[in-house]
Amino acid sequence: MTRWTLPPGDIPAAWFNIAPHLSSPLQPPLHPVTREPLAPNDLAPLFPAALIEQEMTEAPWVDVPGEVLDVLRLWRPTPLVRATRLEQALGTPARIYYKDESGSPAGSHKPNTAVAQAFYNAQEGVHRLTTETGAGQWGAALAFACAQFDLECMVYMVRASFEQKPYRRVLMETWGASVVPSPVGQPDHPGSLGTAISDAVRDAAGRGDTHYSLGSVLNHVLLHQTLIGLEAREQLTLAGETLPDVVIAPCGGGSNLGGLSLPFVPDTGVRLVAVEPLSCPTLTKGRFDYDFGDAAGYTPLLPMYTLGHDFVPPSIHAGGLRYHGDSPLISALVRDGRMEAVAYPQGKVFDAALQFARIEGKVAAPEAAHAIRAVVDEALAAKETGEETVILFNYCGHGLLDLSAYEAYLQGRLPDERG
Ligand SMILES: Cc1ncc(COP(=O)(O)O)c(C=O)c1O
Repeated sequence: MTRWTLPPGDIPAAWFNIAPHLSSPLQPPLHPVTREPLAPNDLAPLFPAALIEQEMTEAPWVDVPGEVLDVLRLWRPTPLVRATRLEQALGTPARIYYKDESGSPAGSHKPNTAVAQAFYNAQEGVHRLTTETGAGQWGAALAFACAQFDLECMVYMVRASFEQKPYRRVLMETWGASVVPSPVGQPDHPGSLGTAISDAVRDAAGRGDTHYSLGSVLNHVLLHQTLIGLEAREQLTLAGETLPDVVIAPCGGGSNLGGLSLPFVPDTGVRLVAVEPLSCPTLTKGRFDYDFGDAAGYTPLLPMYTLGHDFVPPSIHAGGLRYHGDSPLISALVRDGRMEAVAYPQGKVFDAALQFARIEGKVAAPEAAHAIRAVVDEALAAKETGEETVILFNYCGHGLLDLSAYEAYLQGRLPDERG
């Protein structure tokens, strides 16, 4: 057996909330102007009440609405796969498992929260959502979700990706969304997630019929993604494992990493590893401080690791990992020593992505390839020590719309950035 699936009725009925398990409560977000702790009402122009409540709740579990489950069932539960061919090729005693989130309509984990967010907005009578997107994965996920609940969708796409990745724009438009490059009106600026968030928030704040939707970073987003880790736990048991020794995922804003790893935080023996690009080393080289979530300073100040909200990372291919900040939950876990973080240059990341494609057959999204790099290194370390390490990682997206990155690598044109 190398693949464990669950029946459609076995999508977890509730999301796992990490808040009551933290060693100390998160510091509150601060109002961008007064710098006082944010009141729930401050967020009302941007988010529906249900999401604001989820952002702040201490309830250990939050029920998944039936309407959300009905859409998630189009592709969930997702398979857990054992990469036995990779194990053999590396000659490692480690057992390598991955949660395959690439089979969603948009090709990544992102629809797990997009569907929930679109549902709660539609339920509150909102007609239009705005958002930012880096590589286009999040924008595509929200475009799909908006189509399910009859919402208009306006996507501000980081200009560098808009130009490098035209097919994700077409995908978003196929689902009915409008897409513009960000920053708006600055054609020579490569853009960043920070500039795109500013554009999307400015748009939503200026219209009564519109809310804003964020694809990562916030507590409610990580909450929605915990279905990944909850399913993986059950599937690992089916595979004959008790718990993984190490859980590995790439980290841009923290949503796929949080989704896979948060349900394992209470299991103190399980190592949790965040993988980021050397050119945007938020967790490994950033400072822990309050900072804005966007470039222009419209959003609340969040307590997180940050490179500074005016940081513009180089245009690497893992566009989804180019964010100056990180989820406050992930940041707190790293600060408190519960989670490790490691950074790789993109050349080493693509070495591993190619190895994985040729051995396991799957062409990973550049973001997912960061996890694969760390997994290969972890498996090689196990080979040195002879330990039968159980490794679980998030295959958070496929790279079939990122082939320009593979082409650059194959043609020797992929620059290795400096940290
Ligand atoms: C496939 C994929 N993985 C990872 C990420 C990084 O985001 P996050 O850290 O929120 O999972 C993105 C972001 O767009 C993505 O598209």
